[in-house]
Amino acid sequence: CGIVGYVGTKDAKEILLRGLEKLEYRGYDSAGIAIANETGVHVYKEKGRIANLREAVDETEAGFTGIGHTRWATHGVPSKLNAHPHQSSSSRYTIVHNGVIENYEQLRREHLVGVEMVSDTDTEIIVQLVEKFASESKTTEEAFRKSLSVLKGSYATALLDNQDPNTIYVGKNKSPLLVGLSDSVNVVASDAMAMLQVTNEFVELYDEEIVVVTQEKATIKTLDGEEVSRASYVAELDSSDIEKGTYPHFMLKEIDEQPFVIRNIITKYKDDNESIKLDENIRQAMAEADRIYIIAAGTSYHAGLVGKEFIEKISGIPTETHIASEFLYNMPLLSKKPLFIFISQSGETADSRGVLVNVKKLGLPSLTITNVPGSTLSRESDFTLHTFAGPEIAVASTKAYTAQMAVLAILAVDSAIARGVKMDFDPLQELAIVANAMDIFTNQKDTLEQIARDYLSLSRNCFFIGRSMDFHVCMEGSLKLKEISYIQAEGFAGGELKHGTIALIEEGTPVIGLATQENVHLNIRGNMKEVVARGANPCMISMEGFAEEDDKIVMPKVHKYLTPLVSVIPLQLIAYYAALHRGCDVDKPRNLAKSVTVE
Ligand code: G6P
Repeated sequence: CGIVGYVGTKDAKEILLRGLEKLEYRGYDSAGIAIANETGVHVYKEKGRIANLREAVDETEAGFTGIGHTRWATHGVPSKLNAHPHQSSSSRYTIVHNGVIENYEQLRREHLVGVEMVSDTDTEIIVQLVEKFASESKTTEEAFRKSLSVLKGSYATALLDNQDPNTIYVGKNKSPLLVGLSDSVNVVASDAMAMLQVTNEFVELYDEEIVVVTQEKATIKTLDGEEVSRASYVAELDSSDIEKGTYPHFMLKEIDEQPFVIRNIITKYKDDNESIKLDENIRQAMAEADRIYIIAAGTSYHAGLVGKEFIEKISGIPTETHIASEFLYNMPLLSKKPLFIFISQSGETADSRGVLVNVKKLGLPSLTITNVPGSTLSRESDFTLHTFAGPEIAVASTKAYTAQMAVLAILAVDSAIARGVKMDFDPLQELAIVANAMDIFTNQKDTLEQIARDYLSLSRNCFFIGRSMDFHVCMEGSLKLKEISYIQAEGFAGGELKHGTIALIEEGTPVIGLATQENVHLNIRGNMKEVVARGANPCMISMEGFAEEDDKIVMPKVHKYLTPLVSVIPLQLIAYYAALHRGCDVDKPRNLAKSVTVE
């Protein structure tokens, strides 16, 4: 979910709506805004996209203060009833909230017996608590602080009091939230992008802090009411980076940007002697580690699987890659000197952050590889490596994935050199070759569109098979396809298919094979023959040097370690065109959110 708030000199409606449009990547099941003026607080909410909300808003009702929310449902189905803002029983208080309140049942029994709840959300409990505590002759600020201090869970929340239309009360714990400052205008948002329209000067909030925001000032306090002072920073974001320009979809734009991103990474990680430029502290942390634990979710996890190969094969450090949400509650035995590497495009994923919190409690070192350097994971880990991919807006991650792998390759080689391993692999040079190979694919869209049409227009399902590095890319290719086209897809280790899953192959089932690894390309070709013998419709993607006549796509030769950065591009484009032809909403697939800030 994403939240915004505005206190200023202009009508808040349009600013809030535009802000929410920029936050739609965080969820888009339903949306709402509340506007405060002398006549009270006016709430508008709708199921579905911000566009629906726009239609519902009363143009004539103006106000200089307001809050807004776009939702990714956790408690309660997506509906107008469960959409935020929520109000207290007397309608005095109105709230929006991103996060999950874990003890809401208990709080309800303890404090709110007899209070009728209107929605199925955990959020409503907060606003009812504020009303309850305020009725015990506390000021709104005190009631708000008291309410937040009894909550267990995560929140980025903003509250309006209809008796004071010039103030917003905001609170933060675990979920991201920023305050934006300008002349006679102050704003809040889950993410700077939403409020670049007003300002580029922001202040970070830490966990268990509140802010009282008025037109003149934004006062940060702890939950105990102690004032906190903190310097602001300028968000180095270019608002044109978050426009799609002439592209029909952000996803296509971001796929096309990949060669540029890789070249950008080469520049950023190269020193004047054409060697790798890396923070000495990171080098040392890698040198000291006896085992690396990579923690990530979704596409970043898939990049982590490739990262493990890089680090083990190139630098010789044993490495494990874990799904963050699994690691969080089922931690394996750790080595004596572990280093944790968090991979996260957004730097906000709650599952990964949960692990980081535990790692810090254990006093262990951590490095975050992220596309958003000011993000929570980046701030809270010991070191950060930036992926320099520019804002990624489409929910399906593309350029962040290839950027993460590029940075991991550089990190692996750097630590190999630091450990005195003899290297014949120069990642900066090899990545330049990768960028050129990517260019070739982004210029072959017609062929890939045709493949999507031929193989996937009518299919219910699709398999991706590969071995070693190719297997990891198959998992990513299948995730891309299922998340945006809703075709059931599975990425499988070529050799494992025959041990059960091959039962799903029927006449015409599309099977996309990857054969970019010379040592296993004959094996995967063998596996492809097994599925073809059972009726599958094969589409082989291979690499120059060991391509065969029937291969549908032959990618230019790149270093064997770096093939995932190139072979994923046709899979991204095939997924894109499959989704397009099926009439799916490519950039905002159903049920998903780009940044999942709840566990
Ligand atoms: C969400 C997104 C995925 C993403 C995952 C991890 O589920 O829909 O595309 O891979 O979160 O996000 P992160 O920002 O941590 O890389």
